[in-house]
Amino acid sequence: MNHTVKTLIDKLEQNGVLNRDEFVRLIDSRTGEAAEYLFGKACKIRHAVYDHEVYMRGLIEFTNYCKNDCYYCGIRRSNREAERYRLTPGQILDCCAAGYGLGFRTFVLQGGEDPYYTDERMVEIIRAIKTQWPDCALTLSIGEKSRESYKLFREAGADRYLLRHETANAAHYEKLHPADLTLKNRKRCLHDLKEIGFQVGCGFMVGSPFQSTECIADDLLFIKELAPHMVGIGPFIAHHQTPFADEKPGTMELTLFLLAIIRLMLPCVLLPATTALGTIHPTGREKGILAGANVVMPNLSPTSVRKKYMLYDNKICTGDEAAECRMCMHRRMESIGYHLTVSRGDHRGTI
Ligand code: 5AD
Ligand code: FES
Repeated sequence: MNHTVKTLIDKLEQNGVLNRDEFVRLIDSRTGEAAEYLFGKACKIRHAVYDHEVYMRGLIEFTNYCKNDCYYCGIRRSNREAERYRLTPGQILDCCAAGYGLGFRTFVLQGGEDPYYTDERMVEIIRAIKTQWPDCALTLSIGEKSRESYKLFREAGADRYLLRHETANAAHYEKLHPADLTLKNRKRCLHDLKEIGFQVGCGFMVGSPFQSTECIADDLLFIKELAPHMVGIGPFIAHHQTPFADEKPGTMELTLFLLAIIRLMLPCVLLPATTALGTIHPTGREKGILAGANVVMPNLSPTSVRKKYMLYDNKICTGDEAAECRMCMHRRMESIGYHLTVSRGDHRGTI
């Protein structure tokens, strides 16, 4: 194997970080052989911390209304073709009940930035879920809010919050979002969430339009600095009703390489093998686990709304019942020697 690449991987393993130039060099000069070497190290660390366990999160996509207009996203407000829906609190609780029966001990409420779900309505839902299933962790993924709103959600009992930073390079951020969304505010949100006591997750898309290797290096340095509990990364995939309709997708190969780098940077991090990764390759999620990921997020949304939460084209699992996804995921993990566990799946570290 190329000597410099090996040296960089060894250095990354030792120091948990590289500088910007080194990250760029490592990523740009990677080979299949280097990737195997890196995956070996990532798996070793992953097994030391989480053994062969895979944590599962039940994803409930409760609204596809969104006031934002991100250029990459299928449920952006300018997409007049998207058929909008909201689940009622009763439907959300039904999803949790079904999920609990299937062994889920973490529920993720994800939605567009939907003004209908005021703080009061969110607090009511959070309280209801945490009262009925006090042994479960509740994760929110509902976008940018004020510090005060985040505090209310935390006080109501929410445990975790996912908010991908999307790109840590300000110029790149402007190419993916309209002017009313800024990297500065995104970072403010993540820092507020952490200070308030949430377990936080950031993340980015691999191969998003205009993404350079330098952008990815900035993402990795930002992740190191924030030291989040979770990092969600997956390939960009075009949605045909967005301005990025004709852009090419991110690759599985680079996504896997980055998952392994992130495992070396943050040994205890909760790292999902995402649905987008499963969408670009039939066994993408399995390969993600073998590159160092330790979380999967099967869908618990009612099948009647699945096809409407289309962030990108050809999203998998849109026709399957929660129980089918659960069984399918079980088989997939067993096929590579890993096991889904009935557990909240908390972060096993000190950050
Ligand atoms: N391709 C891949 N991922 C996407 N997301 C949004 N649109 C796309 C797309 N076209 C991701 C964003 C967002 C998360 C919920 O889904 O990173 O934060
Ligand atoms: Fe922003 Fe969808 S419009 S993530």
